[in-house]
Amino acid sequence: MATPNLDRIETRLKQLSQSWSSTRTGQAMGYALLGGGKRLRPRLVLSQVRVLSDSAVDVACALEMIHTYSLIHDDLPALDNDDLRRGRPTVHKAYDEATAILAGDGLLNAAFETVLDLPLDPAQKLACCRVLADASGIHGMIGGQDSDVFEKLDTVEAITDMYILKTGKLLGAALVLGAILDGRETEAPALMAIGEKLGVLFQIQDDVLELTQDTQTLGKSNNSDAQNHKTTMVALQGMDLALNEIDRLSSQVKIGLSALSVDSSATMSIINEILVRNH
Ligand code: IPE
Ligand code: IPE
Ligand code: MG
Ligand code: MG
Repeated sequence: MATPNLDRIETRLKQLSQSWSSTRTGQAMGYALLGGGKRLRPRLVLSQVRVLSDSAVDVACALEMIHTYSLIHDDLPALDNDDLRRGRPTVHKAYDEATAILAGDGLLNAAFETVLDLPLDPAQKLACCRVLADASGIHGMIGGQDSDVFEKLDTVEAITDMYILKTGKLLGAALVLGAILDGRETEAPALMAIGEKLGVLFQIQDDVLELTQDTQTLGKSNNSDAQNHKTTMVALQGMDLALNEIDRLSSQVKIGLSALSVDSSATMSIINEILVRNH
């Protein structure tokens, strides 16, 4: 497996954002995209690619654009109404709401523009666009946001289903995109299932971290769920069961990865990093 290269992702994100800078919306797109972030999703893409290429880096960057758009809109007053993201004022605070809405929209489009520009085989390009569209749409992240914002979720099953859509689909997409670029599209269903479990694990961790870390460490509010009256997995099950669930899911994720046809140690090391994260 190629070693996921954080510097390469950061450099390319900066290059791709240069053509946006002549507009206020484009500047806000760059502000959000280049303002920190763990880059877990693009690094997961590259962790599944055995031979690193410029195209793979661009597909990884496209997924980070979609993730960043989802955060800009998630923070808006009409959704979670948060003022801090990645340790800096959210886009609607640094600019204004209109700019934040447009910047989110712009990043979503820019993701597809980035992939469509690539000199990939047309079938591979189409497969990448399909994965990005599905994972971010109403059957993916947007569907999860709908459920989170509009439904009264008060069972473990209901919250788990919402976490799969809201967070699992984009994490699954990361692994699937890597496999498509690596010529292993047949492993897409297995990788999406791993990503969905990772998403649930990741969201339960977020629930735990919101209670155990301060706002400065998180780089975002540690009071957002409470302020928005969200029933979290910790509120529902208690801290011990939530931590047990993280352990159980991490074992399942690792078993899933070890059953793949290729060496997944690069992906495994990102998972291990996630397991010890404090923000
Ligand atoms: C935050 O995702 C949103 C959730 C799905 C909980 P990350 O924790 O990956 O955020 P960044 O990209 O590092 O800021
Ligand atoms: C954010 O979900 C996930 C998406 C943007 C789809 P949350 O609202 O739970 O995450 P944070 O706490 O704002 O990062
Ligand atoms: Mg939210
Ligand atoms: Mg939020």
